Amino acid sequence: MKKIDAQALRLATAGGGKIYIETYGCQMNVGDSEVVLSIMKDNGYERTEYIDNADVILINTCAVRDNAEQRIWGRLFEMRAVKRRRGWVMVGIIGCMAERLKEELMEREQVVDLVVGPDSYRSLPDLVRTAATGGKAINVMLSHEETYAEISPVRTDKNGVSAFVAIMRGCNNMCSYCVVPYTRGAERSRSFETIINEVRNLFERGYREVTLLGQNVNSYMDGQVGFAQLLRAVAEISPLLRVRFATSHPKDLSDEVINVIASYKNICRSIHLPAQSGSNVMLQVMNRKYTREWYLERISAIKKSIPECSVSTDLIAGFCGETEQDHADTLSLMNEVGYEFAYMFKYSERPNTKAARTMADDISEDVKTARLTEIINLQNELSLASNKRDIGKVFEVLVEGQSKRSAEQLFGRTSQNKVVVFDGRGAKVGDYVDVVVNSCSSATLMGEVV
Ligand code: SAH
Ligand code: SF4
Ligand code: F3S
Repeated sequence: MKKIDAQALRLATAGGGKIYIETYGCQMNVGDSEVVLSIMKDNGYERTEYIDNADVILINTCAVRDNAEQRIWGRLFEMRAVKRRRGWVMVGIIGCMAERLKEELMEREQVVDLVVGPDSYRSLPDLVRTAATGGKAINVMLSHEETYAEISPVRTDKNGVSAFVAIMRGCNNMCSYCVVPYTRGAERSRSFETIINEVRNLFERGYREVTLLGQNVNSYMDGQVGFAQLLRAVAEISPLLRVRFATSHPKDLSDEVINVIASYKNICRSIHLPAQSGSNVMLQVMNRKYTREWYLERISAIKKSIPECSVSTDLIAGFCGETEQDHADTLSLMNEVGYEFAYMFKYSERPNTKAARTMADDISEDVKTARLTEIINLQNELSLASNKRDIGKVFEVLVEGQSKRSAEQLFGRTSQNKVVVFDGRGAKVGDYVDVVVNSCSSATLMGEVV
């Protein structure tokens, strides 16, 4: 039994109090934190951005690679100091690591009061009350139906311009290296109507960009409505609303979706199409269900219909059994596609995945590091080359905020999802401005309003 003080008693009886939330991992987690804040708000809680004011601290976690989890363990160690300083505060772990490790999170550091997985956020208010009276507060049930469809998320973006909108949850793909199907459960789509209502409402409140989110948005299906139809309907809400989406699985990116993007100017010219590897042998053992040739055909289809489209990817270095030739195939794929941007990782074995159960994690840490470094260096060259090609061109930029470097400078993004820093000239956050690019680095374009 834990010590119960007045603060805990208040949470246990009336509910309410201040909640602080910290988010790690992917955009899905950012969206989920907003759902959690909404559920808690409806139960009398108020959000605080200061950890020292909080009655309840929630950490929304990621389990995709070991280093993501190590970061959370480090944070939990720091939470012990926070608890000591505060006398009493509730610490909850939610998200993918909560789903993966369950009770272990409570046992190991003796600092966690609450463990809640991604499909159980509706039970948070009850579980906070349970934890406040020293009860065992854990819910890691996965669901086949939960999409939090009607919940209107409390937005945590800083600018009031771009918002994430979850359109589906879970994943059925079972890539052999990946823990996500285990932490987020089976794939399910949110209702078309609630998505459209949410986006409309965002637009009316001044938002100018939405990113439709799912682990594999191309397999969205609500009754007869697939992703192409959803994308079209969202784009038609207003030509002033930019539409992005992530992530597309290469095996499911259809011509129909490419055609919808091509026919709406406000659907952004940027597709995130994770390849993972350029080697057919690796793609096969990864269970990605496409070949290098299929992938390259999809890239040609994109470039043919939308020549100005940027393409980004995720790549894994040093997966089980990866040879020098496999690695060279990844480098050559990168060159062939000419990616604008990439997220690049060393393979990290995740317990209980197919790879962990049946394949040897046999590439040494040194070789993984060396291959990853080569991949990163090549991507820097490709990004720089792509940015240099933009010099002299004019882009429509949606203004997102003030540049960190100088108060007179603003930053925003092109339709291709490239960051542009430029002189403000009276433009405001949320405006569209035409910017001519004058110079660049591998990460940023610099320009001025025309
Ligand atoms: N659903 C998305 C992204 C899921 S996780 C997709 O399929 O593309 C984001 C990225 O993390 C993956 O694309 C992959 O590149 C990487 N990743 C997933 N599991 C990993 C692991 N065990 N080790 C290293 N990288 C991993
Ligand atoms: Fe993981 Fe593959 Fe699903 Fe992406 S598609 S979340 S990599 S299992
Ligand atoms: Fe996202 Fe990490 Fe979970 S990448 S889905 S938060 S394991």
